[in-house]
Amino acid sequence: MESNKKQLTVNLLMAVGTAVIGSLQFGYNTGVINAPQKIIETFYNETWQRRYAEAIPSTTLTTLWSVSVAIFSVGGIFGSFSVGLFVNRFGRRNSMLMVNVLAFISAALMGFSKLAESWEMLIIGRFIVGLYSGLSTGFVPMYVGEIAPTSLRGALGTLHQLGIVTGILMAQIFGIKEIMGNSTMWPFLLGFTFIPALLQCAVLPFCPESPRFLLINQKEEAKAKSVLKKLRGTDDVEEDMQEMREESRQMMREKKVTIPELFRSSLYRQPIFIAIMLQLSQQLSGINAVFYYSTAIFEKAGVSEPVYATIGAGVVNTAFTVVSLFIVERTGRRSLHLIGLMGMAGSSVLMTIAMALLEEVKWMSYVSIVAIFSFVAFFEIGPGPIPWFIVAELFSQGPRPSAIAVAGFSNWFANFLVGMSFQYVAELTGPYVFIIFTVLLLMFFVFTYFKVPETKGRTFDEISASFRSGAEKYTRDDLNTLGADSQL
Ligand code: GLC
Repeated sequence: MESNKKQLTVNLLMAVGTAVIGSLQFGYNTGVINAPQKIIETFYNETWQRRYAEAIPSTTLTTLWSVSVAIFSVGGIFGSFSVGLFVNRFGRRNSMLMVNVLAFISAALMGFSKLAESWEMLIIGRFIVGLYSGLSTGFVPMYVGEIAPTSLRGALGTLHQLGIVTGILMAQIFGIKEIMGNSTMWPFLLGFTFIPALLQCAVLPFCPESPRFLLINQKEEAKAKSVLKKLRGTDDVEEDMQEMREESRQMMREKKVTIPELFRSSLYRQPIFIAIMLQLSQQLSGINAVFYYSTAIFEKAGVSEPVYATIGAGVVNTAFTVVSLFIVERTGRRSLHLIGLMGMAGSSVLMTIAMALLEEVKWMSYVSIVAIFSFVAFFEIGPGPIPWFIVAELFSQGPRPSAIAVAGFSNWFANFLVGMSFQYVAELTGPYVFIIFTVLLLMFFVFTYFKVPETKGRTFDEISASFRSGAEKYTRDDLNTLGADSQL
């Protein structure tokens, strides 16, 4: 029901903008280890030599580097799974504020690792900033989803992804030799996380708590109303209040839903399955093979300035997130996800052809750039932003924290698998590594086609009611006719 008017107010934008600093941190730390791989490896090697008076064996170096990359997602796994411990106890905003402690600690550990001649500090720092990022990937979409008016939930939800990709791009640019990607400056490159954390701590106290949390969890009706008035920029917030009261009534019936209950209850089994598969489709698409290792990939593909090609990928990534931002409320989540998955599958075939023919046809290195750029562009059309915010849409207030924790866990676990294994698998399969992603992408396309409902323009309550009213409603035919208006 497109009954909510578009209400983009300064207060709403400030709250969303401040929250997505958490997303920026996540993106920054995703992208930051890509360009300086060689330089930090040299530091590992020198430290090893100093300690053991011999050069580091190359397999040990690959392992140490893969661990440094992937430990971030191990932190993410733990962080995302702990979201439920915070959000209902401290509220959404205060949770975001508190966990900045982790960002400060990790910035210090990584920033001083060179001085202390300790790769252990760097690895622990990556783990801790992973914890922070895992928590953020739960907090931010939840907070944004809860404060956004229905008609803007997708667009504002996409700002989480825009924060992430901006972070990645910043890290890639800062990571070039002339800025911080050199042997003296790299500790600053990693320690930079300190600055966004400081900024968020300064502004978050001026942002409101989620009115849904105030009303539904805390029963603070008056406070919820006054926050809503500020966020919507009008005194007439009765419609939103009404919808939240309805969700609250529903929640009294549901009580708090624990993680095991999500899987046991027939009410939630279907949406949680969809949520998990969407997260897997995002990560097993292979996107982070690109964002962790593109410099190495481009080098193998014969590109002469791989770091600049990596930055190019970051620019395309950001540009297409903006495209998605503008079309997601019009085109809908489901179609964009489908287009994105199919486009990525095509691009990964192209990438394979380019890598396979590289020996014979030199200009294939350019084709590989085109392939990676379009891979990334299609990712940001749908599979990038949508899985993050759709989970908050698929569940009402009762099961939402548990569902976000489970979804986040699935996302980060798959992120870990790709980060940890890509280099090994690439060594084994040579130019054919992207074929694995093609197969997975096609599988996820089929799943999305048959199972994922459209959530555009429907209130939280309408969406969860549709799952309540029976799984048989979500046959493919229903989904095809399900437009902006609820079919209920
Ligand atoms: C998504 C993914 C993240 C990835 C990023 C790339 O946010 O969750 O892992 O690095 O997109 O833009």
